[in-house]
Amino acid sequence: MTTAKIIVIPGSTRSGSFNTRLGGAIANELSRLGATATRVNLADYPLPIFNQDDEAKSGAPENARKLATLIAGHHGVVLVNPEYNGSFSGLMKNTLDWLSRDVGVKVYQNRAFALAACSPGGLGGIRVLSHARDNLVSVGADVITPQLAVGNAHSAFDDDGNLIGERPVGLLQNMAGALIERAKLHVG
Ligand SMILES: Cc1cc2nc3c(=O)[nH]c(=O)nc-3n(C[C@H](O)[C@H](O)[C@H](O)COP(=O)(O)O)c2cc1C
Repeated sequence: MTTAKIIVIPGSTRSGSFNTRLGGAIANELSRLGATATRVNLADYPLPIFNQDDEAKSGAPENARKLATLIAGHHGVVLVNPEYNGSFSGLMKNTLDWLSRDVGVKVYQNRAFALAACSPGGLGGIRVLSHARDNLVSVGADVITPQLAVGNAHSAFDDDGNLIGERPVGLLQNMAGALIERAKLHVG
């Protein structure tokens, strides 16, 4: 059987982003469990704020098509979400909206999705996870139940970017294992 290929997409391009760091820990765990993990930096795919008039005039931007094509080469997707005012970062929501349009490939079908978040606060961004889940379900995506919210981000990682602590590590292993199993349903 082909190895499950999984793409990890953090919703922050901030230097020193905790969600990017968490994305790295997730990618490492996916690799340890035998998957092929790809990390994305959305700074490499800058997109205008979605406007339906612009879309009608020019179609989806080249970067939306490029990102969609990259995602289409994977069996699973992890969205790693900063929580802004209890919900999505504008960057993640704008990206997801563009990907739901005509970008040459149906991004939300034929692959498995998992959700993660990381925040300096104690709740770890748990509220954005429910918003992200609703968003993905509304476009018909296959979203696994196990998810990962990492709080107290300043002390959540060691110097090598590994998650610290039995509970977060257990949640990470659980989510990564479940995603690989679900992604394998979409292999080949
Ligand atoms: C506009 C704004 C709203 C925020 N709202 C929340 C929030 O609702 N919950 C939370 O836990 N953190 C909130 N934060 C703090 C972010 O979790 C924190 O800035 C985090 O580091 C952002 O993710 P990043 O490190 O990946 O860039 C907010 C930050 C900003 C800038």
